[in-house]
Amino acid sequence: MTTVKKYTLGNPINTHALDEKFLKVATLKETFKISEERPEEMELFSWNSNEKSLCCNLTEDERVYGLGETVRGINKRGWIYESWCSDEPHHLEDKRSLYGALNFLVLDNKERKLGIFVDCPSRVTFDVGYSNASELRISFEYADAELYVISGNHILEIVKTFRKMIGKSYIPPKWAFGLCQSRWSYFTAEEVRQVADRYDSAGIPLDAICLDIDYMQRYKDFTVDHEKFPEFPEFVSELKDRGIHPVPIIDAGVKIEEGYDVYEEGVEKNYFCKNEDDSDFVAAVWPGRVHFPDVLNENAREWFGNFYGRLTEAGVDGFWNDMNEPAIFYTEEHLKGVFEKIEDYKGKNLDIQSFFEFKDLVGSVDNRPGNYDCFYHHMDGEKIRHDRVHNLYGYNMTRAAGEAFLSLRPGQRTLMYSRASYVGMHRYGGIWTGDNFSWWSHILLNLQEMPGLNMCGFLYTGADTGGFGCDCTEDLMFRWLGVSLFTPLFRNHSAMGTRRQEFYQFEHTEEFKNLIRLRYALIPYLYSEFMKAVREDEMYMCPLAFAYEEDERAKDVEDQLLVGESIMIAPVYTQNARGRYVHLPEPMKLIRFRAFDDFDEEDLSRGDHYISAHLNEVLVFLRPGHVLPLAKPANRVPEIDYGSITYICNGANPEEYELYNDDGVSAV
Ligand code: GLC
Repeated sequence: MTTVKKYTLGNPINTHALDEKFLKVATLKETFKISEERPEEMELFSWNSNEKSLCCNLTEDERVYGLGETVRGINKRGWIYESWCSDEPHHLEDKRSLYGALNFLVLDNKERKLGIFVDCPSRVTFDVGYSNASELRISFEYADAELYVISGNHILEIVKTFRKMIGKSYIPPKWAFGLCQSRWSYFTAEEVRQVADRYDSAGIPLDAICLDIDYMQRYKDFTVDHEKFPEFPEFVSELKDRGIHPVPIIDAGVKIEEGYDVYEEGVEKNYFCKNEDDSDFVAAVWPGRVHFPDVLNENAREWFGNFYGRLTEAGVDGFWNDMNEPAIFYTEEHLKGVFEKIEDYKGKNLDIQSFFEFKDLVGSVDNRPGNYDCFYHHMDGEKIRHDRVHNLYGYNMTRAAGEAFLSLRPGQRTLMYSRASYVGMHRYGGIWTGDNFSWWSHILLNLQEMPGLNMCGFLYTGADTGGFGCDCTEDLMFRWLGVSLFTPLFRNHSAMGTRRQEFYQFEHTEEFKNLIRLRYALIPYLYSEFMKAVREDEMYMCPLAFAYEEDERAKDVEDQLLVGESIMIAPVYTQNARGRYVHLPEPMKLIRFRAFDDFDEEDLSRGDHYISAHLNEVLVFLRPGHVLPLAKPANRVPEIDYGSITYICNGANPEEYELYNDDGVSAV
């Protein structure tokens, strides 16, 4: 049993984080006002109106989970996080924000388990024992929020209640569980064809290829460069006929260019974000000067969403939404000031003081906070400054697409994942975790980001496998598969200028082939568990701390996850390591996979074990009383033969496993 209490602070903005259906049946009988006058109603929290912060004590043994995709581990205690969607490519430990703003946390100590959702679209700071080790401090830039406190006896129960409040997770087409190959710099249709050919000739399964900004005409949304991608609809059907789905990117900024109809119509209809004087706000991203569609405005959202139809008409059935924090390289206003100031430094002897001032001046033009308090939205009949609602932008861009797909592709599923997010967006799409690097630490980060995302309903998610930035090595790519083979979104993506990292580029292509075929063999299980997690509002990837609440040792495990009901993963994520220690909270069967039909099994007792793993081996641990279905792999997801499924069992019979399946494309 869980109970939910709602508190109101100031005048909250309706974020649409909670599900309409839930709000209709909700039994939140009382709403408490957060104020200093009535501290008894606040129970655990104290409110300090001068500091605009809520404070709650943390016991020594308390663990804190959640906050979506953020750095620093599954247990968030000991750092300070800012809920502010940011185009932040350096996912380093000193970062306070990445792309998402997912303000849900769970506090867990022996006496209490509490879920806290802070529904606030402006900047919120979560100081989780950073300034004061025994305190959680939630500070607001604008003290207008709704706060939901869920109490219950178990973490999983609390998460489930929260998930019921925010509504069902987005379901992608089943083919989107297959491998997607991507790279920023597939410049021509011919190059894309070659990628498909090389996958096919290497016998490596593949279901999708992403089209990055290079397919567009001068980076203009909903256009295609007809010279480099001639006869686009024919190209789309050619790929789809061979079972490969092209997945184009859509960016938030609309290029300012005479004769470009999206731009011209947006100006005419007043659908772009505005300056204070109601002229259209100009920012700069890939295409240079852009306007941002005001997706927080219902009419503009519908208008923008309908443009996806230009590509669905050409046969496209999957998209990724990018740069929707929104990322801003510069604003002209600010840049003007920078150029003026640069003059002051010309010919000067730049010393310890002035050199760093100069560096800051030129090095911090992009994504600077000041770029976000100078433009406006028209939302629910009100003119609202962007910084008050910043965290809703990516959500609403994705919602624009999701709502449009209902009429553009009725009854069908459309692949959609976004970079920026807010709670509620999980009903319209998944996310990928943005611009990571080909670093060993980012394999672990990939794993550690999954639970926080699942807690907020983002089940269709994954990272750029092999890393987006810098050069990938073969051993890193092998080890990354220890996580990526199990994430619903399985995409190999890299940045322009980095070393090529398509799986066929590596020396041991055959071994990669075997492991990717293993992924396809696992899809009946992975898809089944994903769909059950959607239907039952459960975690798809779950920390041991949630599943084994009584096991003190399990609570400290930050590098293993349960995937669905049957298995646990424990990837090797350090360079040159030949294995790793694994904690088993219960006796499990180790399956060391080299291929779907080449593995060894070993029964292991509860406790800690050193497990060796060659580069081409992926570790899976089968829980007692469970089974793992494995199909004969195919080159495309729809070709997987469910009649070929065999089961690896650990003290259970195959019939005990509930295998979910459907046609994979119809809306459910
Ligand atoms: C952003 C995206 C990245 C993409 C690039 C070019 O950095 O996060 O995935 O490749 O833009 O579009």
